Amino acid sequence: MIASPAPLVVAIGGSGRHARVVLEAADLAGLSVRGVLSDTLPAGAPFFGSHRVLGGLDRLHDRSFLEDCRIHPGTGDQVLRRSMVEVVRAQGGQLGTIVHPASIVSPSAGIGAGAFLAAGAIVGVGAVLAEACLVNTAASVDHDCRFDVGVCIGPGARLAGHVSCEADAFIGLGACILQNLRIGCGAVVGAGAVVTRDVPAGQTVVGCPARPLVR
Ligand SMILES: CC(C)(COP(=O)(O)OP(=O)(O)OC[C@H]1O[C@@H](n2cnc3c(N)ncnc32)[C@H](O)[C@@H]1OP(=O)(O)O)[C@@H](O)C(=O)NCCC(=O)NCCS
Repeated sequence: MIASPAPLVVAIGGSGRHARVVLEAADLAGLSVRGVLSDTLPAGAPFFGSHRVLGGLDRLHDRSFLEDCRIHPGTGDQVLRRSMVEVVRAQGGQLGTIVHPASIVSPSAGIGAGAFLAAGAIVGVGAVLAEACLVNTAASVDHDCRFDVGVCIGPGARLAGHVSCEADAFIGLGACILQNLRIGCGAVVGAGAVVTRDVPAGQTVVGCPARPLVR
């Protein structure tokens, strides 16, 4: 007999707007959700339908709490999401992945623990996403793309084949990245940009063709 996976606990950041999106996807996917963790809502409070606050984010440091659940970092804040992942890992806990049933994921793609794929997201043949990546609504990640930990793809963005995104790269709403390019660690691609060259680590680019943002 195959054991069913441990139930999910969704860790919320701030007001929990992104967490609502994540919880709806989990519900539609038929995943078992034990509850949520929040620093802004009291324990026991209801959250988004039938879900309930189990306690604060300090529970992520509690090994016994982590023993029989999987934590999903349910925040759009990249820094907070990454820190949740680090804490859970350090405590030996498990991360839980949520894939919206209306996303399309190639059977040959690899999706790391703690990732979230939203409605309409497409992940193509041979793509590999590391832990805690986020592919937002109607974004597409084409064949053989490679993401390091914590990469975030905004709604409607389009990544052609063989694009590499290093850790914590952020691709804005509706941006397009041409094939074979590398987006460096922590780089930001602005909404609507068309990226035609590699983007160095830490750089923000905007426009068509994308150029470094000059302030
Ligand atoms: C690129 C970005 C990160 C810059 O943010 P910021 O550092 O706060 O920059 P500002 O808003 O202060 O804008 C600085 C300048 O860049 C321009 N600019 C900002 N974003 C731009 C974009 N996407 N494309 C073209 N120009 C842009 C602004 O008009 C401004 O120009 P100005 O000085 O001539 O008025 C941000 O605008 C962006 O595109 N974020 C992505 C949002 C997104 O995808 N959200 C979905 C989340 S799931």
